Amino acid sequence: MKKAISFLSVACLFLCCLLTSCSTTPPTVSEEHMSQANDLLRQARDYARASDFENALQLAPVLAAEVKKGVETSPASAIKTDPAPDLESLLAAWESGSYAAWTTALEAGDAKATRQSLVVMKQQCASCHAAIGRPMIHVTGVR
Ligand code: HEC
Repeated sequence: MKKAISFLSVACLFLCCLLTSCSTTPPTVSEEHMSQANDLLRQARDYARASDFENALQLAPVLAAEVKKGVETSPASAIKTDPAPDLESLLAAWESGSYAAWTTALEAGDAKATRQSLVVMKQQCASCHAAIGRPMIHVTGVR
């Protein structure tokens, strides 16, 4: 009897492991680019906080390229709205809008404008996520 119980618990443990490994799907290419953009945003924010605008400015185009690649590679299944929004124009609006304002502030070495424009830029990241019906995607760790 004892043996049967311990066999059962081992079997349960095995099944649980199998189930959890199945449910955690690896990130898509698009998700990888986006989370890279998120990391770069945090790094650039830290440089700017330390008044190292030069290094922050160097990360900016790398970050923008990751956002672009993330958008371009996003699978149809990533979009939860029907009809799907025009991602290309949302991206263009981000690039020429809050992203451009942020890089201008960095170029000017203006600490206050950099802080303020970063907040606005993050909001524009988030509004694209809202437009694809996924407002729960957060730009993480960047305040
Ligand atoms: C023009 C639209 C658009 C803009 C702008 C945009 N994103 Fe995204 N983002 C997406 C899409 C589409 C996905 C879903 C990708 C997928 O599920 O494959 C996504 C997903 C994400 C994710 C989730 C990744 C994961 O591992 O699940 C993060 C984090 C993210 N974006 C961060 C950012 C940051 C930071 C910015 C701004 C610097 C940004 N995004 C700007 C469209 C956008």
